[in-house]
Amino acid sequence: MSDEYILEVSNLRQYFPIRSGFLQRVVGQIKAVDGVSFAVKQNEVLGLVGESGCGKTTVGRTVLRLYDPTAGEIWYRTRSGERVNVAQLPPGELKPLRREMRMIFQDPFSSLNPRRTVKELIGEPLQIHRVARGRALEERVAQLMAEVGLDPAYMERYPHEFSGGQRQRIGIARTLSLSPRLIIADEPVSALDVSVQAQVLNLLQSLKDEFGLTLLFIAHDLSVVEHISDRIAVMYVGKIVEMAPAEELLRRPLHPYAEALVSAVPPADPDLQSRRIILEGDVPSPANPPAGCVFHPRCRYANSGSCRTVEPPLQEVEPGHFVACHLAKELHLAGIGG
Ligand SMILES: Nc1ncnc2c1ncn2[C@@H]1O[C@H](COP(=O)(O)OP(=O)(O)O)[C@@H](O)[C@H]1O
Ligand SMILES: [Mg+2]
Repeated sequence: MSDEYILEVSNLRQYFPIRSGFLQRVVGQIKAVDGVSFAVKQNEVLGLVGESGCGKTTVGRTVLRLYDPTAGEIWYRTRSGERVNVAQLPPGELKPLRREMRMIFQDPFSSLNPRRTVKELIGEPLQIHRVARGRALEERVAQLMAEVGLDPAYMERYPHEFSGGQRQRIGIARTLSLSPRLIIADEPVSALDVSVQAQVLNLLQSLKDEFGLTLLFIAHDLSVVEHISDRIAVMYVGKIVEMAPAEELLRRPLHPYAEALVSAVPPADPDLQSRRIILEGDVPSPANPPAGCVFHPRCRYANSGSCRTVEPPLQEVEPGHFVACHLAKELHLAGIGG
């Protein structure tokens, strides 16, 4: 891993307007991403986890400028070593970056056009970016299929002729076709059978090593990202509440929400009793988040003072270990293995 950051996101906000009535007036904001900062080193995997609706996909899409951010900076180091703020780039200058930064989507069923052959699907980015055509295109598609463990003999087939895991492989080949450097993998295995998930995770891991890729790996489940991630960031209602090296976060979570997520990870040793923490109540709406710490209404440790009134900042409490909790220094939370 290089020490250079390939991506540095600072204070990112993505608010969506809520419109109402005949005139469609803006009556509120959904604060889908509300002040998120993180950085990813070249060839590193940063896992981004949190319950559905906490803003993970919005972070990914905003980093790729599929949305214009409400606020914040997205510094990306290009292949040629230049640092650009993706948040501010004019649309005309985004195209070359779209080759370097790519997304793998959650659902391999709906993200592939059913009327296109595998050859067309994998070859399309190469055509759009005028990288290859004709014979060269076909050769590149065959090479990509082999790379992701698909038989190139099937390139004239359609997506429905493949299983879910194979379809996700097609999606990955499509993502890889332009030799990207940064991949945002948005729940790439969530729609797959458990038995197939590990195969696709292993494939992503080996492709990452082979091509020196950098990954932002999004999942709602900590057990999916624990092995592939170097570091893990935990999101809750639009904010990162804890970020640490993966092992450290699992062994010694410092945020009560992270503790609950860790408690849901099945223990490696089946004899160890897992003490799963069931969170009471619902995830608050990002249109109307609670005052103070966003997690306090569901937190079993919350006090009636600062937790309810003061928003805790994300602070580095130990080298590389960040947490946003007023009580982080007092609590002794349980991690994996005790
Ligand atoms: N395009 C959009 N317009 C309005 N609200 C959105 C849009 N995309 C996401 N949201 C809302 O933003 C919040 C975060 O969504 P999302 O990023 O999809 O979460 P996750 O990927 O963690 O499940 C949710 O409340 C969702 O309903
Ligand atoms: Mg999502």
